[in-house]
Amino acid sequence: NKGKYMHYMQKEIHEQPESLTTTMRLIRGGACKSKTVLLRGLKDHLKTIRRSRRIVFVGCGTSYNAALASRPIVEELSGVPVTMEVASDLVDRQGPIYREDTAVFVSQSGETADTLQALDYALENGALCVGITNTVGSALARKTHCGVHIKAGCEIGVASTKASNWHFAYTSQIVVMAMLALAVGGDMISNETRREAIIDGLLDLPSKVKAVLKLDEEMKDLAELLISEQSLLVFGRGYNYATALEGALKVKEVALMHSEGILAGEMKHGPQPSNCFSCLSYLFHKHLFCCSKQQSVIQQLQARKGRLIVMCTKGDSASVSVGGSCRVIEVPHVEDCLQPVLNVIPLQLLAYHLTVLRGHNVAQTRNLAKSVTTQ
Ligand code: F6R
Repeated sequence: NKGKYMHYMQKEIHEQPESLTTTMRLIRGGACKSKTVLLRGLKDHLKTIRRSRRIVFVGCGTSYNAALASRPIVEELSGVPVTMEVASDLVDRQGPIYREDTAVFVSQSGETADTLQALDYALENGALCVGITNTVGSALARKTHCGVHIKAGCEIGVASTKASNWHFAYTSQIVVMAMLALAVGGDMISNETRREAIIDGLLDLPSKVKAVLKLDEEMKDLAELLISEQSLLVFGRGYNYATALEGALKVKEVALMHSEGILAGEMKHGPQPSNCFSCLSYLFHKHLFCCSKQQSVIQQLQARKGRLIVMCTKGDSASVSVGGSCRVIEVPHVEDCLQPVLNVIPLQLLAYHLTVLRGHNVAQTRNLAKSVTTQ
């Protein structure tokens, strides 16, 4: 039931405060009191994960992006190096996976063929295989040694398209992986302050997501401005590189507009924003925000006369030297590793409004199936 919403996609974007609250139940109750995270599905394997030579994140599409967003905090809290693998590429290369590795498979549906094939490959190579999925009883949940269910919500009919769950799956996946980082990091004294700040940040997320959702009208206005552009480049760095990739993916697949997520540090190494009509630049992360490199990316984008839209945390816009013609979108501030959860939402809203305004079918996105069970 779409309730007051026009489309399931819109409904699911707006339901994220609830889906995150559901995901967060994993850290409520007893766990919350002592500011620790209890992931029952993993507790017997935490020692092995901590001792692994490396953690390998494996996924496709949005799930890959969510894992990428979570990589820095898992590395920071666990001290274990994390590498990233697109599932199909790992299988194509038969990339090295060792018994001493922990391979973490991220899949909303738990049925994506490429991810399952990579899982079989990692199992054959003797790695500890951890699943992060939204779907209880899925092939991924059955085949992995251990894992976490996201509990973000139930899927709705195929007719409603794959839009069901995409949007809240991404944000919930990041939350679960932050919790994974906390669990693997354990109770090291050196991490105590950081750990507590993240847990407080997690508990604050639903209300902050609600605040971001108030940007709906603003993102609709922006979509009107961008409606007939041919391309949208999304720049991000640090925690928000994944946001740039995920935002661009949403715009490409739903609004059918060319879009690319670009690591802002690569700006000088090829991308030519002057050829694009619009550029969206990210500046969320506090210390990245202060970093002169990010400022210089903005200046270069302005010099190339792309239409520039800057997103930053509340209160920071005054210190960004963006010039009068630049649109600034402000989102609330949260602990850096959780900022991607808030930052992707304006882009989800933008993708939704662009889709509607460009006259595409939101409910039946071209060439997309609910889960990609072929290779
Ligand atoms: C993007 C999207 C796809 C999926 C990808 C993996 O919105 O839906 O990119 O993320 O097909 O699907 P799961 O997570 O089910 O393995």
